[in-house]
Amino acid sequence: MKPQVVFVLGGPGAGKGTQCAKIVENYSYTHLSAGDLLREERGREGSKFGQLIDSYIKEGKIVPVEITINLLRQAMEKTMEMDPQKYRFLIDGFPRNQNNLEGWTAEMNDKADVKFVLFFDCSNEVCINRCLERGKSSGRTDDNRESLEKRIQTYLQSTWPIIELYEKQGKVRKVDASHSMDQVFADVRSILDKEG
Ligand code: C5P
Ligand code: MG
Repeated sequence: MKPQVVFVLGGPGAGKGTQCAKIVENYSYTHLSAGDLLREERGREGSKFGQLIDSYIKEGKIVPVEITINLLRQAMEKTMEMDPQKYRFLIDGFPRNQNNLEGWTAEMNDKADVKFVLFFDCSNEVCINRCLERGKSSGRTDDNRESLEKRIQTYLQSTWPIIELYEKQGKVRKVDASHSMDQVFADVRSILDKEG
């Protein structure tokens, strides 16, 4: 079975990871977060990319796709090797810019089908406040005001055009992510139930 992919996009703190966890509890999807995979690679002993990833994350910049696409491809392959029934993936935080998209197209276009983009929409203010709140306990090096301003810039400059591109193809399913977690998930459910 060819992997079926839903890309999950939205600003930092929009609730991508939280909602993906809820989707996994209720639907047969595997959640792969590009950010989580990069943080894991950053901490992996012997990684050639640890320092590069570390500085990109602190600066809110998007890591070159060659690194990210390998992590995603390996994670998908490993999941499907262990259980061939697990061919439905939520790919969270990707593609974040033109380079990400080009890397996906070159490496994965004929290996996986992108069904749609689940887009968690909320204001920059809500995003920043949620991340600052999360920063009190997340231990993340980028949940501070300085990094967040850069992450928001990157989101507006680099990720928005990707969302617009998919929008033009009729592939964006938008959710108002400013509501409570449960309310947002109710909207997510109605989208997933419709998509089948
Ligand atoms: O999605 P998340 O907020 O976990 O991403 C954290 C950081 O990881 C991003 O700000 C960026 O530096 C890096 N990242 C990336 N490329 C992606 C996803 C995340 O470089 N596709
Ligand atoms: Mg996340």
